[in-house]
Amino acid sequence: MRQITVTEHLLLHQKKSPAATGTFTHLLNDLILAAKLINRSVNKAGLLDILGGTGEMNVQGEAVQKLDDYANRALIHRMERSGALCALASEENADFIPVPQKFTRGDYILIFDPLDGSSNIDVNINVGTIFSILRRKSPSDQDVSYDDILQPGVEQVAAGYFLYGPSTMLVYTTGLGVHGFTLDPTVGEFLLSHPNMRIKERGKYYSINEGNHHYWDESTQKAVGYFKGKDNGLGAPYSLRYVGSLVADFHRTLLYGGIFMYPMDYKQPDKPRGKLRLMCEASPLAFVAEQAGGAASDGRRRILEIEPQALHERVPLFIGSKEDVASAIGYYR
Ligand code: AHG
Ligand code: MN
Ligand code: MN
Repeated sequence: MRQITVTEHLLLHQKKSPAATGTFTHLLNDLILAAKLINRSVNKAGLLDILGGTGEMNVQGEAVQKLDDYANRALIHRMERSGALCALASEENADFIPVPQKFTRGDYILIFDPLDGSSNIDVNINVGTIFSILRRKSPSDQDVSYDDILQPGVEQVAAGYFLYGPSTMLVYTTGLGVHGFTLDPTVGEFLLSHPNMRIKERGKYYSINEGNHHYWDESTQKAVGYFKGKDNGLGAPYSLRYVGSLVADFHRTLLYGGIFMYPMDYKQPDKPRGKLRLMCEASPLAFVAEQAGGAASDGRRRILEIEPQALHERVPLFIGSKEDVASAIGYYR
């Protein structure tokens, strides 16, 4: 296959995509550099003092893994110097981070989950980085406020993820389809490997943490029962696949079709909204899913239309093949 880099691919889109400005290309290339640093640490995690926890708890009330912390610092350090951003917001930081005055600033905002799938780091299972790029709404000479940050997913300029695994991939969209790149470690470049990714209308896999069964409401138990039932009118029960890293479970769903579900549950009474974060997990992956012909819902609303009320707002997530998502959310009407 001809070797097409991300920069070349963006130039090919130059004419059609408002996102593919020179500044945006620079932003994406800085994001790629940060991801290569994270990828290097993920690949050598067992050889570095980077496994295990830091002993701290993050704003989510979750134990911070050393690699979470490393990935977060690597992204903040690299991206605040990109010259393209006015603010960053990380899953690991309580508030958004305005780009310091001493750095050149731009009009883009980066929202990210620096390391997704933290519980899988120490057991050498795929982890990833999820990113969402917005444009500020306020004039460049003003301070960034939460009005610039808390925008619905339809306002995203671009979104995607890095998947660190047997091969390291970048999958992203700027609103002109979904494109996958694979890192060639011998040259250190992400090269186009999956142009114009499309998700099947319906798949054969459902993906959910069945261990939460007794904490689901009746609608969820019926929806899950549909996919694994013999009388689902789909010929055969779906197979269950669940990695426990959202990026890995989503990537498989994108390639093979089917549905990933993380419904709300009553496991932690103070968190009945579901576990996944709207702004740095659900919304960017919803943009990718829809651009590939799929769908993403919280059970009642299209993920991309949800107006965020808080930076770390959590939502239930049903994402994947359009017909499978429609079947699932039919149980919540
Ligand atoms: P993170 O590591 O960024 O906190 O995300 C973990 C998330 C997501 O990757 C995955 O889908 C989900 O947690 C798994 O949750 P359970 O272990 O409750 O199934
Ligand atoms: Mn995550
Ligand atoms: Mn994370």
